[in-house]
Order: sequence, then C-alpha cells, then structure tokens
Amino acid sequence: MHTGNDIGLIGLGVMGQNLALNIAHQGYTVSVYNRTPEKTTDFIENRVENEQIEGLYDLPAFVESLEKPRRIILMVQAGKAVDLVIESILPYIDEDDLIIDAGNSYYPDTERRLAQLEEQGYLFLGMGVSGGEYGALHGPSIMPGGAEYAYELVEDILIKIAAQTDDGPCCTYVGNGSAGHFVKMVHNGIEYSIMQNTSEAYDLMRSAFDMKAPMISDVFESWNKGELNSYLYEISYKVLREIDIETGKPLVDLILDQAEQKGTGKWTSQSGLDLGVPVPSLSAAVSSRVISHFKNLRVKTADLAAAYNDKVDYTQSMIDDLRDSALFAMFLSFSQGIWLMSAASDAFGYELDLAEVLRIWKGGCIIRAKMLNFLQEIIKEDQTNVNLLLNTKSIQYLESKLDAVNRTLEIARMSRIPMPVLSSALDYYFSASASNLPANFIQAQRDFFGAHTYQRIDKKGVFHTEWEE
Ligand code: ATR
Repeated sequence: MHTGNDIGLIGLGVMGQNLALNIAHQGYTVSVYNRTPEKTTDFIENRVENEQIEGLYDLPAFVESLEKPRRIILMVQAGKAVDLVIESILPYIDEDDLIIDAGNSYYPDTERRLAQLEEQGYLFLGMGVSGGEYGALHGPSIMPGGAEYAYELVEDILIKIAAQTDDGPCCTYVGNGSAGHFVKMVHNGIEYSIMQNTSEAYDLMRSAFDMKAPMISDVFESWNKGELNSYLYEISYKVLREIDIETGKPLVDLILDQAEQKGTGKWTSQSGLDLGVPVPSLSAAVSSRVISHFKNLRVKTADLAAAYNDKVDYTQSMIDDLRDSALFAMFLSFSQGIWLMSAASDAFGYELDLAEVLRIWKGGCIIRAKMLNFLQEIIKEDQTNVNLLLNTKSIQYLESKLDAVNRTLEIARMSRIPMPVLSSALDYYFSASASNLPANFIQAQRDFFGAHTYQRIDKKGVFHTEWEE
C-alpha cells in the first residue's frame, strides 16, 4: 500500500527547487525540506502549481512523509553542509533507506561518507548533476555512483528526469564508490578548459582582429551550426549579443575581467597530478581564472611592459583557422579528461564504462557537444585507448587542424594574446605523440646533482655517472 511520498529532497536552492519540480512533473510525489523555512514557504507558494509537492518544516515529519525504503536527495552546498544534513537526518531514517548526495561534493568526501553510511546499514549514492538551473528543471545529465543495488532503487526516477537524446536518457549507473562525483568533477574540468578556449578565441577576435561583440557573436553562431555545435558555443554567441539597457553597450564589455571558481576545476587538476595523468589544458584553464584575479597587478605590469595589442587585418581564412583551433582544443580537452577518468577507474576500482560516460554527456550537461558522437565512436572501438590518440581517425583529425593551430598561435603571439588552453593542447599533443622526448636530458641532470641514476637505451640496468671530477 502506498503510504507516503515517493521521494524527498533537502535543499531548496535554485538547483534543488528545479530538480524537485522536474521529479514532480514526471508524476512522482515529492516531500521537500529546507534549513531556512521561509524558502520552503516561498517555493510552495510561488513555484508549485499542480505538482504534488509537499513542504515539510521539521525533519522527523519530512522523513515520516516518505514511502519506505526512503529515498532522500540532498541538494545542499558541497562541503560541511552535506555532513551536517546527513547527521541531522540519521536519527529518523531506517536501515536500507537511501541518501543521495546530488551536490558537487569532492570525491574523497563521498568515499568517506559512503564507507561510514554503509557500515551503519544505510544506502548512499554520490551523484553528479550537470545542466545548471535549466537542466535541473527540464532534464540534466545525471552521473550516479555507489552500490549498483542502491542505484536500482532510484533508477526509475532518474532515467525519467534526465535529458533525453536519440542515444537514450542522459543517466546511467556510472560506477562504484565515488565514481559519480569523480566523473562530474572531470566534466567540470573539461568545462573550464572549453570555456577558457572560447574566451581565447573571443580575445583574439576582440583584441587582434578589432571585432565588436555582435560580430564575434555572429562568428560563434555560425560555428555553432557546424562541427563545433555545443552548449558552450551556443551560450557564447548569446552572451555576446546581450546589450546593457542602461548604456546601450554590449553587456560583456562592461563585465569585470575576474573569473570566479568554486573548486571543481582545481580538484580536477590536482587529481591529475595525484594520479600521474597529464591534464595541462584543464590546469591551464584553472590558472587562467587565477591570474585573472590579479587585476591591479596586471594593470600595473601592463604599464611597465607597455603592453599593446597589434591589430591584424583579418581574413575569413584566419577566422576559419580559429574555428579549427577550437575543435583541436575541444578534442584534446576531452582527451585529457578521459585519460584522467580511466586512471581513476583503475586506481579506485570504479569500473567506468567510458563510452557510456560520453553518451550521458550528449544531452543536458554543460559540455554537451556534437563532437561527443565522434569521441564515443573512437572509445567504443577500444576502451583501453585512454587518451583517444591510439586511433588513426583521431590522429588524422588532429593533424588536419595542425596548420590552422600554428597559424592562429603565431597571430596570438605577435599580438600578445594569451591562449593558454590552445597552446597547452598543442604541446600536449606534440608530447603525447612524440616517440622521443628530452626526458633523457632531465635524467642526466638529476643524476648529476642528486645521484638519482638513469636507465640506458643500449643496455639493461640502472646507472650512475660521476659527472665531475
Ligand atoms: P543554489 O546555488 O542552488 O541556490 P546554494 O545557495 O549553494 O544553492 O544553497 C543550496 C542549499 O544548501 C540551500 O538550500 C541551503 O539552505 P538555506 O536556504 O537554509 O541557506 C543549503 N545549505 C547550505 N548550508 C547548509 C547547512 N549547513 N545545513 C543545511 N542546509 C544548508
């Protein structure tokens, strides 16, 4: 007999409200609770219409309102808040009830919570959700990780509320442990990289080609109709089209050039270092946000350096080169992220299906892109192709863009336009496809000053040289 609501949701921020509405639109009954009661009232009064959503004002009543085994989604700020909310509901829930952390939690936290809660007999999922507020309401990409039997308890709901594509719903059981939050973290790392690269293209057009925002918007719009078709290029042309009502100027020209971050890009970069996987473009994107913060320092240094931007009489072929460079950078941003996920899967026992991960990124999420069809095709051919580069189609694709990338970077260098993501993507590609790197030289230096030894290419063994008398 049905005695309670199908699912509960704690945390009525923007994402939580939209997710609750999305679930209710699929015909489920939802209980909601928020620490600040006014938000619950405001939500029920102003956003809930015919949906079956019940606002509860104390935790015992919230828990009691749910059908057993209970399914409770947390959509609260990552970090301490998640622990506090879990602690506060534990006295009221029963063994075999399921808690789902749908925020952007750091994956080691998820691993810790999972171990603690499972030991106490509760079920727990760490679930990445991407798509911003629109996605949460109309269909996000959902990346749940943890025990598969825990996932099966909510699969029906998640599959229905996820974005739907020709290739199925953008939700799948991602893998064991903290797999869901790890995959969401890498998603965000790739997002940082593609966003930075769009801003580099914007900067080249603005500062070297002297193009105004509406013209750049037209370029991005035309790119979005082709191979670069993606959510981030769609929002790029829309952002550049926005006019500030007060001044009549493009709004983007009035926005301070200091980029904020919440940490997922930094964690991706740190995980790359921890797991020994190169993610230079993803890291470059984080560093770019960091350096943007030093506005005063940059302005003063610009005075000293007499920094100027040489204007270039641009041609359509330069714009085409820039588009090919964007494709090159996008491919290699994904390549780095996929390699990181593959290494994490081995290290942490996630058992990720990388082709499935790419599939659920095709809709709903911020990095959805037409290119994912191509990338998925490549990884499907061989799941051990961890950076996508061990495939002639990949190499042909990247080589076909190489001249364009070089020409673009030449203009950027001459015009003092920083393009850290594109530059690092090129160096990453050159390094990852080099049969000979100068690491022999590094080894010689290490052995010189620290007797760290080296191996030789002509005989087996470990060697040390007395480099100086
Ligand atoms: P959004 O960006 O989606 O609007 P947010 O501002 O990060 O979300 O907050 C998400 C939710 O975390 C909010 O519901 C917030 O509750 P309040 O409305 O009471 O602020 C919740 N939250 C943050 N810290 C919390 C804590 N320590 N305990 C319980 N809930 C918390």
